[in-house]
Amino acid sequence: MTTPPSAATRPAELRIDGDRLLRRLTELSDIGSIPETTGSSRLAFTDADKQGRDLVVTWMQELGLEVTVDGIGNVIGVWTPDGMDPEHAALAPVMTGSHIDTVRTGGRYDGNLGVLGGLEVIETLATVGFIPPRPLAVAFFSNEEGARFPPDMMGSLVYVGGLGLEQAYQTVGIDGATVGDELSRIGYLGPGGCPGLVPHAFVEVHIEQGPVLEEAGFDIGAVESVQGISWTEITIEGQSNHAGTTPMRLRHDPGFVAAEITSFVRRMVTELGHSQVGTVGMVELHPNLVNVVAASAKLTVDLRNTDNEVLLEAERRLHSCIEQLAEAEGVRISTRSLARFDPVIFDSSVVDRVELTAKHLGAMTLRMPSGAGHDAQMMARVCPTAMIFTPSHKGISHNPAEHTDQHHLELGVNTLLGVMVGLAES
Ligand code: GLV
Ligand code: MN
Ligand code: MN
Repeated sequence: MTTPPSAATRPAELRIDGDRLLRRLTELSDIGSIPETTGSSRLAFTDADKQGRDLVVTWMQELGLEVTVDGIGNVIGVWTPDGMDPEHAALAPVMTGSHIDTVRTGGRYDGNLGVLGGLEVIETLATVGFIPPRPLAVAFFSNEEGARFPPDMMGSLVYVGGLGLEQAYQTVGIDGATVGDELSRIGYLGPGGCPGLVPHAFVEVHIEQGPVLEEAGFDIGAVESVQGISWTEITIEGQSNHAGTTPMRLRHDPGFVAAEITSFVRRMVTELGHSQVGTVGMVELHPNLVNVVAASAKLTVDLRNTDNEVLLEAERRLHSCIEQLAEAEGVRISTRSLARFDPVIFDSSVVDRVELTAKHLGAMTLRMPSGAGHDAQMMARVCPTAMIFTPSHKGISHNPAEHTDQHHLELGVNTLLGVMVGLAES
């Protein structure tokens, strides 16, 4: 039951219910839970993703949100409280949200916090009968991780018109399935149009996924930017042969070349400087047998930097290394770009609002860039956007051991509440 707003329940004094938030996070993490851990495995458009979606949609409906599903499976729940006059109800909403898909070895907070935090904000406001001056919305975007179907942030990219639906549908995943088939199969190829409704503003709360806040004793990050991302898939084809009989001088070995590229990436990013990072996260050899020189190898390189010029230099060096290795080892190497996003700068007035709101809640705040990719970086293309970071214990993420203290989860979502109400009033 809701009660009318009063001075005692003005948003500045309202606090979210941390236990309720934790209960929802736990219930969602039980879907696709990884045994012996607190993490989950809900790769995009799998059965586990569908079950997670169904649960969150149910929660949205219970809160009275108007739920739409668009052509890429993004789910948008708009809260237009009873009693809001039609003129205000027609205004563009302040939107929050994130994703509920995970990497195969995911934690329970990455993305989920941003979605369930949004529901928690709405439930908190609804419980006291607060009526904002415009609707609020909570979204979960499809396939943010890109771990099954590249690129990452696919749903939000389509939402803002950066990728067409047909192209997205044809994307082939690591298991050979396509986005279009899998979306239909799980029943989330919705009727909503893309690009989608442009919000008044967008703000996303997310765990930091790195060590910076915890190491320096900060409670909340006011995220100013997201670093650029470059994903390349490299396929190497050589000459498969007998491991015992083939003289070294006659080898055209894709396994050797994959290892050379892997160590080159590490050396190259170290040489470029500390803000450049590089990862070979996937390597496959075929036929992958102890006594057979591999016929082919496939690997992925993830390069990121806040400085696009340095990122471009890293890409150039990688490609030149590949050419030299192909020549020297006598193998064929082809490359395919899986994702390429320039660094993104968030709206400084929204970043200021995040910082001030968190400070008013007693948080030690840090303005900082994001090392991970986020749906907010796509939303920044269409409306004023920023993010709120909470600390990640030991900086661990994309790992079932991912953890953030309840106190910091609450601080992050209370900051979200204050920022959303403030943006609605702005
Ligand atoms: C997405 O989570 C990414 O940063 O890889
Ligand atoms: Mn995430
Ligand atoms: Mn992630």
